Amino acid sequence: MQLNDSVWDVSSNGGHQPVLAGELVELLDPQPDDTVIDCTFGAGGHARKIAALLDEPAVFIGIDRDPEAQRYFDMFEQEQACRCRFIHSNFADALQDMGDNGFQADLIYLDLGVSSMQLDRPERGFSYSYNAPLDMRMDPETSLTARQVVNGYSYEELVRIFKDYGEERYSRQIARYICREREKRPYETTLQLVDTVKAAIPTPARFGAGHPARRVFQALRIAVNDELASLERGLDMALNLLAPGGCLAVISFHSLEDRIVKRFFNARVGRCECPPDLPQCVCGAEASIKVLTRRPVTPSADEIGENPRSQSAKLRAAEKLG
Ligand SMILES: C[S@@+](CC[C@H](N)C(=O)[O-])C[C@H]1O[C@@H](n2cnc3c(N)ncnc32)[C@H](O)[C@@H]1O
Repeated sequence: MQLNDSVWDVSSNGGHQPVLAGELVELLDPQPDDTVIDCTFGAGGHARKIAALLDEPAVFIGIDRDPEAQRYFDMFEQEQACRCRFIHSNFADALQDMGDNGFQADLIYLDLGVSSMQLDRPERGFSYSYNAPLDMRMDPETSLTARQVVNGYSYEELVRIFKDYGEERYSRQIARYICREREKRPYETTLQLVDTVKAAIPTPARFGAGHPARRVFQALRIAVNDELASLERGLDMALNLLAPGGCLAVISFHSLEDRIVKRFFNARVGRCECPPDLPQCVCGAEASIKVLTRRPVTPSADEIGENPRSQSAKLRAAEKLG
């Protein structure tokens, strides 16, 4: 498929509006000489806001598993006063490597999910709005595609993916329909799958809130990119890398991600787990972080109005204790 110039925006932000950007900057509070890691660089929208506050001795590292992000990083780098480096990798692996090499950072942040550039490029297969090959890989060098999942996974595995990762009410019906249809003709394209979802769910559900295939597409994307496992591992690695007093912030876009972040933070605030009838604490619970967001920060009505993709965003942040 040819690159479509109308949707492939090579402007400096790729048409991607960073979500909760002001709130992220306020929580991270970058200092001019900080070492900063952006784990999900994308088009560098957040990176620009943060790097604007850095100066010469500072270091800015951008990570993204999508090699397309390198183009945006190259443009970003030219505008910066500090030293910059791009790493094409899953952030969990990159953070682990840096930790193994004794690297420390002052600020680490993640803006999870998919970028507008990925969604708006039909040939990547992320969107239910364009007809394209069923792909959905954030890193085209990885092997598992949505096509392989849809055509190769068992009925039970498909039900689990749609239910667990998409919170799809009609998981069984959709998985059953897929298993029947793929016997006749393998699934190749996004619209083939959209048609199946529409045919498998009850008629009123086709006209409910949002696109009827939204949850199935989200579920497949999470499975193809193993997103939740990367997040769990990445949070551990990030906290490891942070210098005492450093800050970790995460913007998530659905409840599965937010739950992982919330549990990760809660497990490290040193909450005593002794039975309530013990006279004193014996579990030795020790806080390794201080949570900076008692409740997750969410976008204002104005931001949602300007950028509907921000609607489900939640920002949580924590400071590493010394
Ligand atoms: C929502 S976008 C980030 C947008 C960016 N903050 C901006 O303002 O332009 C998410 C990006 O994270 C990348 N990504 C998602 N999971 C990743 C992972 N496990 N490792 C590295 N990059 C990841 C995606 O490829 C995508 O480019």
